[in-house]
Formats: sequence, C-alpha cells, structure tokens
Amino acid sequence: MGTPGTIRDLLRAIPAVASDLPDPDPAAAPGDPVPLFVQWLATAIGGQVPEPHAMTLSTVDSGGRPSSRVLVCRDVDANGSWYFASAAASRKGRELRANPNAALTFYWPQQGRQIRLRGTVTAAGAERSAADFLARSPESRAESLTGRQSEVLADPAEAEIALQEARARIAARPALVAADWTLYALTADEVEFWQADEQRLHTRLRYERTNRGAWTRVRLWP
Ligand SMILES: Cc1cc2nc3c(=O)[nH]c(=O)nc-3n(C[C@H](O)[C@H](O)[C@H](O)COP(=O)(O)O)c2cc1C
Repeated sequence: MGTPGTIRDLLRAIPAVASDLPDPDPAAAPGDPVPLFVQWLATAIGGQVPEPHAMTLSTVDSGGRPSSRVLVCRDVDANGSWYFASAAASRKGRELRANPNAALTFYWPQQGRQIRLRGTVTAAGAERSAADFLARSPESRAESLTGRQSEVLADPAEAEIALQEARARIAARPALVAADWTLYALTADEVEFWQADEQRLHTRLRYERTNRGAWTRVRLWP
C-alpha cells in the first residue's frame, strides 16, 4: 500500500496524449465503418502498437452487472462482425448465453485512438470454431483443452497436471478440438471512432446501423 496521495501523484504525472497525432477528416470517412476500422488497424500495426489486435470485451450477466476482459480479435468481416474465440463454459460464455448484448473496445495509444463497438453476439458454429481452434499454437490449444477456464483453481498443481495431459493428448491427436471452444461474432450496430487531439478537440465519429442494415454516421461532442 502506498502513502496517501502517492498513487494520485503518479497518475497525475502521466502525459495525457501522444504527440504527432493523425488528423482525420470525418467528412471524408467511408460510409461503412469496416473499411475505416481496417485503415486504423493497419496504421496501428505499422505504428508500433504492441498487440493491436487486443480488445476489451464487455458482457453483462442476467442481473445486468457488467464484466470486461481483454481478448484477441480473430477476424472482421464485411458484414460488420468482429470475431473472438473462447470457452463457452467460461464466465463470458455463460454471460453471453444469458444476454447476447456486448461491447468491444480497442485502444491504440500510439495514435491516440479508441474504437468502441456495441452489438449482438452469436456463436459462429462448430465448423468455424474447430477451424479457429486448429489455427492456434499447440500451447494455446493445450491450455484450452484443459476446459476449465474461469473455474476456481483450488490447487495450482492440478492446472499444471491438466496442461501436461492436454499437451500429451494433442501430441497423440493433432486434430483434437476442445469441445466447448467457440468462435463468437459480435455483429455491430454501433461503431465509434475516437481520435485524440492535442488541443482537446477530439474527433468522434459514430456509425449506427439502421433497421434496413445501412449505416448512418454522426459526429459527437468530444
Ligand atoms: C492480450 C490478451 C489476450 C487474450 N486473448 C484471449 C482470447 O483470445 N481468448 C480467451 O478466452 N481469453 C483471452 N485472454 C484471457 C481473458 O482476458 C480472460 O482472462 C479469460 O478469457 C477469462 O475471462 P472470463 O472469466 O471473463 O470468461 C487474453 C488476455 C490478454 C491479456
């Protein structure tokens, strides 16, 4: 525990935004958020953002209480679906079953950019989930094969043994797929692009999907 004020002082000494930030022109933005997302992603990848595919998934339980965690983005398609994969029995899997409404957030500090999405999550099906699983490294597959994500771990030795067993099972059967590994798609109905500005005139551009499936966009106050 620090002395009172120490943590606050540490936090206040952090510079607010990076410098030499991009200066987007919202009037020139595409009519669909996916190409803009791809542009920003490419800039993040080329711009030294560590793990630019990491995003925060926020879900809510049946009582409306939210929870968030970081996941890797596995794909984005032209329909405006963002994909991630996890164990269906995990906390997020259970919450998504109870309430498919969820949000995703990307943060790319090197460019002063945030992207927020809101939408409905569906499972992409057994075949695509299996393909996602098999595209992972053997280590990642072994971890998922233990099949107990988000359960209480009473004895860490148990996890070590389970991981060793899973590694052996994968070595014996490389095509083995964890039964509850699930590829999920969040189909966005709202996507907001946020660009920091050193003069604090941050740019916010929010796309909304209409009932007919087309996208409209509005600017928001910073
Ligand atoms: C950079 C990073 C990437 C991660 N990627 C994944 C992922 O793709 N799938 C996953 O299930 N967990 C991933 N995790 C772990 C999750 O954050 C989380 O701890 C786990 O999924 C359990 O969440 P839950 O208890 O809310 O279900 C990642 C964590 C970090 C920090």
